Amino acid sequence: MKGKIAVGPGDGIGPEIIAEGVKVIEAVSRKCGHEFQLDYIDIGGAALDKYDTALPDDSLHVCRQSDAILFGAVGGPKWDHRANLAVLKIRTEFGLFANLRPVKVFPGMVNCSPVKPEIVRDVDLIVLRENTGGVYYGQPKKQWQTDKGRMAVDTMVYSEHEIERILRVGFELARTRRKKLTLADKDNVLETSRLWHQVANELRPQYPDIESEHMLADACAMWLMRAPRDFDVIVMANLFGDVLSDEAAILAGSLGMLPSAQLAGSGTGGTMFGFYESSHGSAPTLAGKNVANPIATILSVSMMLRFTFGLIAEADLIDQAIESTLNSYRTEDVMEEGKTKVGTREMGDLIAEAIAAA
Ligand code: IPM
Ligand code: MG
Repeated sequence: MKGKIAVGPGDGIGPEIIAEGVKVIEAVSRKCGHEFQLDYIDIGGAALDKYDTALPDDSLHVCRQSDAILFGAVGGPKWDHRANLAVLKIRTEFGLFANLRPVKVFPGMVNCSPVKPEIVRDVDLIVLRENTGGVYYGQPKKQWQTDKGRMAVDTMVYSEHEIERILRVGFELARTRRKKLTLADKDNVLETSRLWHQVANELRPQYPDIESEHMLADACAMWLMRAPRDFDVIVMANLFGDVLSDEAAILAGSLGMLPSAQLAGSGTGGTMFGFYESSHGSAPTLAGKNVANPIATILSVSMMLRFTFGLIAEADLIDQAIESTLNSYRTEDVMEEGKTKVGTREMGDLIAEAIAAA
């Protein structure tokens, strides 16, 4: 198979984790005889410095010519919020309304989470985040001066259409898994959430094989820590998904373990354009130290092979290589007694070697 991937290392630890993701793409290509063309793009703070925009037209053009985007991280203390706009722009530009953030606790990792092992054992859930709407994008969005001081407004707005399409992705994903869908919202307070709940109730009869439940988002935050195994797919609005996906990542030990796929559908068809990135940020204080955990990025590569290139066996190969490597080696963020501590580059090498040896 041949494919084209736009690669945006970005800022902070971005370039380091992307280098390891690329190593794994190369290892899989060698092993299975695929050919991926990688085109590097400027994005984020680094692009802001050079071109005064976080997502230059040239970068966007390369993305449009590609089958997928593999992305590191953007932003840092050196730049204002404009560095993050690159990510938000790609999401809307390509209509990537579904953000899949899977949290899977590998058996050997149950002691890494600050949450008790008996709670995190066998957790396997997806936070499905609405990715192109809600309070992130709604207008008005501004700050202004009044004679009583400054004021600011953000607007949470959702159309029936936006809600229906992400809920359908949730039902479809659940169908490929344990057949349970949880909708988390704040319908006790928010009008948008009441619309989410109504639309979910209307769709439910079309998916009689899926057990669907409703939960308030704050209660969901609590149950994620108390009984995370009860969840399969949890669908929610943009902001709730942003917050709850970071929380859920801790079940897997570290934010450094949380990948993401941003798609314009459920991805279950296996040939869809996608934007793949770890769910964590650019961690400027870790940059350049060879300590960042590259696994979120490598798991994102696995999701890319699965959802964009339909290479299921190859994706499984990566997941298994990660799992077996973690049995003996760890980066600092998930280090435990009895394991060997390695850096970012070494972790990438070990996973690439495990792929070659499989
Ligand atoms: C994420 C990040 C982004 C978001 C930031 C960088 C804009 O936190 O992908 O979760 O809030 O969506
Ligand atoms: Mg976030």
